[in-house]
Amino acid sequence: MARPHHDDATLPSFLATFILLQLLSTGNGKSDFRVLGPPDPLLAIVGQDKELPCQLSPNISAEGMELRWYRDQPSPAVHVHKNGEDMYEEQMVEYRGRTTFIGKHMVRGEVAVRIHNITVFDNGTYHCIFKEHTSHNQATLWLKVAGLGSSPRIHVTDTREKSIRAECTSAGWFPEPTVEWLDLRGQLVPSETHFSASPRTGLLAVVSIVTPQDKALRGLICSISNPLLPEKKVAETYLPNLPSYYCFLASATLGLVTAAIACAFGKQPKEEDKSEEDEDEADRGASAEAESFHTSLSLDPETASPKLMVSEDRKSVKRLLFDQDLSPSFKRFDQDPCILAQERFDTGRHYWEVEVRDRRAWILGVCLESLGREGRIPKSPQHGLWALEFYKKKHRALSYPRTCLSPLQPLWRVGISLDFEAGKVSFHNAANGSLIYEFSGLSFSGPLQPFFCLWTHDPRPLTICSVVRETEEDPESSGGP
Ligand SMILES: *[C@@H]1O[C@H](CO)[C@@H](O)[C@H](O)[C@H]1NC(C)=O
Ligand SMILES: *[C@@H]1O[C@H](CO)[C@@H](O)[C@H](O)[C@H]1NC(C)=O
Ligand SMILES: *[C@@H]1O[C@H](CO)[C@@H](O)[C@H](O)[C@H]1NC(C)=O
Ligand SMILES: *[C@@H]1O[C@H](CO)[C@@H](O)[C@H](O)[C@H]1NC(C)=O
Repeated sequence: MARPHHDDATLPSFLATFILLQLLSTGNGKSDFRVLGPPDPLLAIVGQDKELPCQLSPNISAEGMELRWYRDQPSPAVHVHKNGEDMYEEQMVEYRGRTTFIGKHMVRGEVAVRIHNITVFDNGTYHCIFKEHTSHNQATLWLKVAGLGSSPRIHVTDTREKSIRAECTSAGWFPEPTVEWLDLRGQLVPSETHFSASPRTGLLAVVSIVTPQDKALRGLICSISNPLLPEKKVAETYLPNLPSYYCFLASATLGLVTAAIACAFGKQPKEEDKSEEDEDEADRGASAEAESFHTSLSLDPETASPKLMVSEDRKSVKRLLFDQDLSPSFKRFDQDPCILAQERFDTGRHYWEVEVRDRRAWILGVCLESLGREGRIPKSPQHGLWALEFYKKKHRALSYPRTCLSPLQPLWRVGISLDFEAGKVSFHNAANGSLIYEFSGLSFSGPLQPFFCLWTHDPRPLTICSVVRETEEDPESSGGP
């Protein structure tokens, strides 16, 4: 009855091997499937929906498996799907009513949970675990939540001291956005920015403040961007600045200024406002600097096409139905309905404004003094003209090739800025200083002159806005509004 000796030795070793195999196949998850998630973090936008996909490898069916998405602990979970059904007993309150299981590709092992109405609190790490009998495997996913805030609003306060204070506010950001202030030439303006998180939504509100010292500053741009998103939210503001601007409304019969109106912005001179005058006294330095930049132009009738008529004060020009009989001049545009201002610029910064009102067609800009005057003038930078055109209800920069533009709203008054040394010519909506187009990187081979053209038989004039010093009594604005 004695067993052969070798059997005693073989049985335990067989058992040991069996147990080892059992351990390998069940202990830490069966090795016959793996779960894969997206390798990179997923980007989700606040208020939108986002799917968290997980997939079996190899692509066997996930039907009959227990599928569970969770944050830190498997229970309570983000979403549980078991025995072909969604199970809500183990769901975290934060996800209640906000998840949908997507199993249309379950047979090839592809499943997902859609989270609705993403919030800041959904940001972070997720896991999805797949269980079948005693085997399981899981993957990790990362969700990066981004909130694109509201369009910023700028509020400007004239502190009545030396400086202006502008405050830019916007809400609904996540994570912390980048806030920048720029002047209208694109230069950074130093600022101070504060963030505060809403306890209910976790979204950040921004308050950013600048107190620019540069008195010549015409406008400011507040730009806010989310590091996770490509778009920026931008607001621009025009700064009330000395000196003020006026456009004189020429009467129907040119040459007689019957009414003068203050343009849509700028401080109107008020006799009773003595404190403003005192202030202006103190700011004479800054104001003088601004004045050197803001130029009062006069049209040069000697350059005017015979199709044009210049007002007596040389601030306004209109288109005639027939050519006038004029003394010939090599300075005159003989065919195109164009005219130059008499000012020549060969250095420095200059700015002027032209009221175009609802005229149906025009060109405004600067040209080399040497621009040809005979016949049709080629209108492009190669020929020494940098200009903005309005024609057939469209705005175009006369670049080469042309650049079609869409200003945010109809232009009533156009601001033209020339920086000779920097090689820049830019066009602004004078209502608030917002930039329409800029030619840059230019180098001018000679002096420049302001350029104007009046296409189409439209009797409405172009009018140059005058600069009026607030301390001076302006005889023509006394009849103003
Ligand atoms: C699984 O993947 C293989 C190879 O990628 C493919 O040929 C097969 O069609 C897939 N099966 C299903 C059910 O999608
Ligand atoms: C989305 O979530 C926000 C914040 O929790 C809530 O105020 C809003 O009503 C929700 N919107 C929808 C459509 O459920
Ligand atoms: C949001 O989640 C990502 C990972 O998903 C993490 O890297 C990041 O730090 C989280 N952001 C915040 C502000 O908690
Ligand atoms: C500038 O003017 C146009 C028209 O008023 C407007 O659409 C644009 O938003 C303005 N910008 C600012 C900063 O006011």
